[in-house]
Amino acid sequence: MTEVQVSGLTKKYGAKAALHEMDLTIESGQFVTLLGPSGCGKTTTLRCLAGLERPSAGRIVMGERVVVDTARRTFVPADKRQVGMVFQSYALWPHLSVTDNVAYPLKVARMPGRERAQRVREMLDAVGLSDLGKRSVTALSGGQQQRVALARALAARPGIIFYDEPLSNLDSKLRYQMGQQVRSLHNRFETTSVYVTHDQEEAITLSDRIIVMSEGVIVQSGTPSDLYDRPNSAYVADFMGFQNILPGTVTGVHGKTADVRVDDTSLVFSGIATGEVSIGDRADIAFRAAHARLSPDGSGAGRFRGTVERTTYLGSAVNLLVRADGLPMRVRTETAELSAESVPAAGEEHTFAVSPDRAVVIPHENAVPAGDDYLTTMTDAAVAPR
Ligand SMILES: Nc1ncnc2c1ncn2[C@@H]1O[C@H](COP(=O)(O)OP(=O)(O)OP(=O)(O)O)[C@@H](O)[C@H]1O
Ligand SMILES: [Mg+2]
Repeated sequence: MTEVQVSGLTKKYGAKAALHEMDLTIESGQFVTLLGPSGCGKTTTLRCLAGLERPSAGRIVMGERVVVDTARRTFVPADKRQVGMVFQSYALWPHLSVTDNVAYPLKVARMPGRERAQRVREMLDAVGLSDLGKRSVTALSGGQQQRVALARALAARPGIIFYDEPLSNLDSKLRYQMGQQVRSLHNRFETTSVYVTHDQEEAITLSDRIIVMSEGVIVQSGTPSDLYDRPNSAYVADFMGFQNILPGTVTGVHGKTADVRVDDTSLVFSGIATGEVSIGDRADIAFRAAHARLSPDGSGAGRFRGTVERTTYLGSAVNLLVRADGLPMRVRTETAELSAESVPAAGEEHTFAVSPDRAVVIPHENAVPAGDDYLTTMTDAAVAPR
C-alpha cells in the first residue's frame, strides 16, 4: 500500500493548463476516485501520477520516494515506480496468451519461473479465468479481456494501481459486476487505488473518497456521502444528480439550516447550508427530484402548489415536470406510495413538499470554474432512476 502526496502539480499543453497547481493526498490503502466531465484533467492527473507524463511543475511523493520534483529536475519514469495500470482499451498484448499477458510484468521483474507460474495461477483464479489461461486474448469477450488486464495489473503486487475508465466499454450489468470485482481485489490485495470515471454512480459505489475536478482543479473532495448529501457548489450538486438547483436570496438562518426565496417567485425552501450564509446573501437551493414529493394538502415548510406539465412513467417511479409560480421543477414519486388511480396526470394541480433535511443551500461565492456545458439539470436524462 502506497501513500501519495501531490503538491503544486501543473501540466501545460502549450499555453493551456490541463492541470493547475493541484494539491492532493491519497492515503495508503484507500480507493480514491477522480470524477469529472470530459476534458477536466482526470487522465492527465493519472498519467502524471503513473509517470507516463512529465508535469510542467510540482512535486509527487509516492511512499517514501520523491518521483517528481520539477524544481530539482527529478522524474522517475513509469517502469521504475512500481505501479499497476488498467486502461479503458485493455491494452493487452494480442500475440500473447492469457497466461503470458499476466506473466509478463513478473518476467520483467525477474521472478523465478516456478513462483511466476504459481502467481499467474493465483491471479487468474482471483479474476475467475482459471480455465482460459491458454486462450489467445483476442479470443475473449470484452469483460474477459478486462479481467486479464486486472490480473496483469495486480500480478506484481504493486503498492498502487491506476484505473482510467476501465469499465466504460462494458454493458451496464457487467460494469456493475466488474466494479465490484475491482473493489474486492483492492481489498484482498491491500493496494492503494486511484480510479478515474465520469460516472457518479460508479464513483459512489466503489470509493472511499471522491475527488471532483473541473477545468484542471479540484473543486470538492470527500466521502461519497459528503458529496452526495452536501455538495458545496452548484457544479458538484449537478454532477451528483440534484435535478433542482434554483437561484435565490437567503431570507433566514437557523443554525445550520437556511431559508432561500427563489428568484422571481414567492417560493421559499429551507435546506442545510453547505457554507457560511447570512440573510441577504445570494445562494442556490438544491434538491433531488426524489426529495420533492407529493404531499397531503396543507401549508408549511417546504410545501408548494404546482401544476403537472408532464409525467414520465418509469415503472417503479413516476417523474413529474411541475410548474410552480412560473418555475419548472422536477419531482419524482415512487409508485409504491401511490394507488394506481392517484398517479398525477398532466394538467392536475397538487401540493408537493421538499424535505428541508435533504435540500442544500449553496452560497454563490462557492461557484467553481466550469465550462458552459456542464449543467445537465432539467433534462430527462437527469431524472432517470439511479
Ligand atoms: N497531448 C495533449 N496535447 C494537448 N492537449 C491535451 C493533451 N492531452 C490532454 N490535453 C488537454 O488537456 C485537457 C485535459 O485532458 P484529459 O485527457 O486529462 O481529460 P479527461 O478528464 O481525462 O477527459 P475524458 O473524460 O474525456 O477522458 C483537455 O482540455 C485536453 O484537450
Ligand atoms: Mg480521460
